[in-house]
Amino acid sequence: MTNNFDDVAGTWDENPIHLERSQAIAQRMMEILTLNKDMDVLEYGAGTGILSFLLSEKVGHITMMDNSKEMVRVMEGKVLDRNAMNLFPVCFNLEEEVSDQSFDLIFNQMVLHHIHDIKAIFEKFHKMLLPGGTLAIADLYPEDGSFHGEGFDGHLGFYPEQLESMLLTTGFRKVSYEECYEVKRATADGSNKLYPIFLLTASK
Ligand SMILES: C[S@@+](CC[C@H](N)C(=O)[O-])C[C@H]1O[C@@H](n2cnc3c(N)ncnc32)[C@H](O)[C@@H]1O
Repeated sequence: MTNNFDDVAGTWDENPIHLERSQAIAQRMMEILTLNKDMDVLEYGAGTGILSFLLSEKVGHITMMDNSKEMVRVMEGKVLDRNAMNLFPVCFNLEEEVSDQSFDLIFNQMVLHHIHDIKAIFEKFHKMLLPGGTLAIADLYPEDGSFHGEGFDGHLGFYPEQLESMLLTTGFRKVSYEECYEVKRATADGSNKLYPIFLLTASK
């Protein structure tokens, strides 16, 4: 079965915003999280793995999980080209399947708004984190629907406060968040539309 992201996987890395956004998020993650080479990490919805490649030298292993076969194919090619022996692409859909792997850190970038049942995915992340582990989520603040345009059936961004209360009821603690990047897009009238992105962290 194909999904929409299969069609864009081959050209994803040509968009400079995808790299710039990942660089801003990686920089902030390195500043606020204590990363070390013993850490076993999961990036969920890794796409072409841009963020994982940026963090790869700071942690032990990263499982780069995505349910788009083509995204996974692109990641596999990049891992071989760069000889990135601590990065492991895997095609998997946590919305539909259960993983028995455990991690010190789970992070995702611009993925949560594509996940239908947020509470259910938080419960899976909580189960998959080791005690003391960290969840990091970078995603859109509420937006007017123009980010994806017509036909999008995901979430139009999030209030981090609402995610915080959901995370606390799931068993997470020490939730904090801040704005970490703004996607800038030119509009038809020549002005720029801004889509701010937050970085939220929580502990198990
Ligand atoms: C907007 S892209 C972001 C990709 C990458 N994180 C980035 O920021 O460059 C969303 C990614 O999440 C993946 N994705 C969406 N739903 C998923 C699911 N249920 N399980 C795994 N991956 C999923 C898509 O295939 C896609 O690669």
